[in-house]
Amino acid sequence: MQITSFKQYEEDYKKSVENPEQFWGEVAQNFQWRKPWYKVLSWDFKEPNIKWFEGAKLNITENCLDRHLATDGDKPAIIWEPNNPEEESVTLTYKMLHESVCRFANVLKRNGAKKGDRICIYMPMVPELAIAVLACARIGAVHSVIFGGFSAKSIADRINDSQCKLVITADGAYRGNKQIPLKDVIDDALIGCPTVEKCIVLTHVRTPVSMLKGRDVWWEDEVKHVNHICEAEEMDAEDMLFILYTSGSTGKPKGVVHTCGGYMVYAGYTFTNVFNYKPGEVYFCTADIGWITGHSYIVYGPLSQGATSVLFEGIPTYPNPSRFWDIIEKHKVNTLYTAPTAIRSLMSFGEEPLNGKDLSSIRVLGSVGEPINEEAWHWFDEKIGHGKAPIVDTWWQTETGGIMISPIATVTPTKPSFATLPLPGIQPILVDENGNEIEGNSVSGNLCLKFPWPGMLRTTYGDHERCRQTYFATYENLYFTGDGCLRDEDGYYRITGRVDDVLNVSGHRIGTAEVENAINMHAGVIESAVVGYPHDVKGQGIYAFVINPEMHGEAELTKKDILQTVTRVIGAIAKPDKILFVSGLPKTRSGKIMRRILRKIAEGETANLGDTSTLLDPAVVDEIIEAVKKQ
Ligand code: WTA
Repeated sequence: MQITSFKQYEEDYKKSVENPEQFWGEVAQNFQWRKPWYKVLSWDFKEPNIKWFEGAKLNITENCLDRHLATDGDKPAIIWEPNNPEEESVTLTYKMLHESVCRFANVLKRNGAKKGDRICIYMPMVPELAIAVLACARIGAVHSVIFGGFSAKSIADRINDSQCKLVITADGAYRGNKQIPLKDVIDDALIGCPTVEKCIVLTHVRTPVSMLKGRDVWWEDEVKHVNHICEAEEMDAEDMLFILYTSGSTGKPKGVVHTCGGYMVYAGYTFTNVFNYKPGEVYFCTADIGWITGHSYIVYGPLSQGATSVLFEGIPTYPNPSRFWDIIEKHKVNTLYTAPTAIRSLMSFGEEPLNGKDLSSIRVLGSVGEPINEEAWHWFDEKIGHGKAPIVDTWWQTETGGIMISPIATVTPTKPSFATLPLPGIQPILVDENGNEIEGNSVSGNLCLKFPWPGMLRTTYGDHERCRQTYFATYENLYFTGDGCLRDEDGYYRITGRVDDVLNVSGHRIGTAEVENAINMHAGVIESAVVGYPHDVKGQGIYAFVINPEMHGEAELTKKDILQTVTRVIGAIAKPDKILFVSGLPKTRSGKIMRRILRKIAEGETANLGDTSTLLDPAVVDEIIEAVKKQ
């Protein structure tokens, strides 16, 4: 199923559009099924109702583990690189990973988990995180991984939304020189989570934790009580595989649902093609498994293809900004898949951290999560790829399950800051505000998809109507991405950023409404408005305009108090970069906040604010402009 020439790409693309069922049916033959499908696809974007490989039975872990054992059992599946470079790295072969997954799957069963149960995973980037994820899939339980940066309240909201029965966590996590007390955070969360019966705790940092009798058990003790034989549960292609919560333009995160068959096929197909993965190569994706990139391109995609995937616990700048380069040299990494924010951050240290580092193993580079600016693209190309490694700028979303628009390494052309061409099976279209298709080249519009692909979301957990409203109701018969996009004179796509109220901060999606809700929970705050502004490293920074008349006597301390509130309500990742106290917000006469004006002010474009005379109180705009200047 690997595409080896541009000509083949064009032929496959054509076939995938003209006869999608035949195309995907053939791709799916490269996977292991217990029972074949009787229909490749049935779909309806109105409901929406999307089914791939109907009637087929499988278990994704048999594709990620069992099927490699006979030929590649001793091949490294996961190479774990710890936060502290002094510590030994750990290599798990396919045999070892298979055994650990089966063993832990039995631990889950022993603790009452069964097919269909939801299980929350809140863990550091250690091999046991991948083991926990795969063990859930082994027994047919639905995992909901929550990124380690979320607060107790965020975790509780997510656990309750999907009524998780079990939580898997660790005593703590290392991140650079910081230690994060994961179990403490879980303990706070579980005060308000009546559905959780058991909590399995991995020992990692050896910090003291509270263990509640009857609920909390140690990972290390549990695995002693079970054996390593665990038959995989037979799953329907459309059974739920996992839930992953993501921010949108409303205050409440949505549980994006992916199912077993289509997701597996799509993650595997895109992995092997986009990165042009060659057997035996070492592949390193720097994302966290708490995000979709980690799900699809650290765990499921690479393992389904028998690849060797590096799992890194730490951060790019610890103990120094050479860390990525040291890892590449140490493990002879062939593919580096990372985020523009990491590239920009490492760029800012100049060339010194690169001195003497052997990056000659690098063959393919990848970027994901946000638009990559040209300067960062060229730096990545020249300094890391030495002009020889194609950069795949991969556009996709939590909801799409896998990469959608991207170069195919060594096969299709690249172009700085362009995601370039759609992969086979993907039919993007640009539309105007009214949903009319914008045809031809050298045009911009809202990016939609007009035909289903196997990796697409099926619903949002517990609220199908919300899924319909968010993605399928804006434009008739189209999936709306929320992104703006340019199609240039060559027909190449360039994603220009979100067109809704969603920010992209260091590649993390954060809804402005969610941050506003959190700020408004601070006792002194009357109202707030949050917008994004260009940030050199993060891509976008968070700018909060806040009405808080009393300020507890001191503005600076109050700002810190508000940051503390946001950290409590959402997590440190959503902390505003700038807070400005104002006496009022620009509003229309009907009371709607004019975020467009605030966005321009935050971007420093005060010369061209448009007509402000229709505002309820135009004077407030001048006051805000003055205050921003003074800041
Ligand atoms: C943005 C991450 C430009 C986009 C996989 C999308 C990108 C959102 C790119 C999804 C890219 C992702 N170029 N923008 N290559 N990749 N985005 O769900 O706005 O965390 O809608 O998935 O990130 O973010 P999510």
